[in-house]
Amino acid sequence: MKGVVLAGGLGTRLYPLTHVTNKHLLPVYDKPMIFYPIDTLVKAGITDILIVTSGPHVGHFLGVLKNGKELGVKHLEYAYQETPDGGIADALALAKDFADGGPIAVILGDNTTDADISEAVANFKEGAFVFLQEVQDPERFGVAEIDPNDTTRIIGIEEKPQNPKSNYAVAGVYLYDNAVFDYIAQCDPGYAGRNELEITQVNNFYIEAGQLRWHELKGFWSDAGTFESLHASSRYYADKAAAMASVES
Ligand code: G1P
Repeated sequence: MKGVVLAGGLGTRLYPLTHVTNKHLLPVYDKPMIFYPIDTLVKAGITDILIVTSGPHVGHFLGVLKNGKELGVKHLEYAYQETPDGGIADALALAKDFADGGPIAVILGDNTTDADISEAVANFKEGAFVFLQEVQDPERFGVAEIDPNDTTRIIGIEEKPQNPKSNYAVAGVYLYDNAVFDYIAQCDPGYAGRNELEITQVNNFYIEAGQLRWHELKGFWSDAGTFESLHASSRYYADKAAAMASVES
C-alpha cells in the first residue's frame, strides 16, 4: 500500500508560529511534526509516500525531508494544493495519479500517534477503514455514532458536532480503496459550514455504501494544530523519552 501525508493548510490557529514555517514542520518535542506521521506509515511497511502541501512555506519541506531516506522512506513525492483552505478531501484529490488505482493509507500531517497500524494495513482489502479513540473533547473532531446492536458498525460521523453522539473521535488516519476519488468528486464544500471538502463527508459516503469499518486506535494520539494540543504532544513525547532513558540507565 502507498501512503499519503496531508500537510497543507495555512495553520492559522498557530499564528504567529506559522508565519515562520509550515505548521507541519514545527517542533513536537525533538522532531518536526511531520516526522511522526511519516514514521507511523514507515513502521506499517509503507515506504512509498506522497506529501501534499500548500501555503507560503512549501519550499521548506524539501530542505527538511529531502528524499526521505533518513526516515526510511524509499520513494517520496510532493504535490502542491493550490487551494490551501480547500480542505482535507480537496488535498487528497491530488493523490489520484500517485495512487494509480490502488489502496492508500492517509494520515494528517498534524496527527501524531505511537499506535501501530500495521495489522489494519496488512488486512485491508476494500472500502474504507477509520481509527477511533475515546476523547474528553469530542466536539473538536469528527465524531462517530456506533450502532449499539452491532458495535462493529458506525451509523454516521458528524464533523465537530455541538452535541456529540459519543466520545469516539475519528483520528486523522484512514485507509481507502480507489473509490475514494469518486467520492471526493461528489463532496460539497458547504457540508460542514467550513467551505471545505470534508473527509467526514467522504467517510459518510462509505458508510452509506456499507463499506466503512473501524478499529480503536491504541496508544497515544493527538492532533497538534492548536497551541494546547501542540504542547500536549510535545509533553507526551518528552515524558516518553525520559521514561525510556531511565529504563536504559
Ligand atoms: C480533521 C477532520 C476531523 C478529524 C480531525 C483529526 O479536523 O476534519 O474529522 O477528527 O482532523 O485530527 P481539522 O483538523 O480539519 O479540524
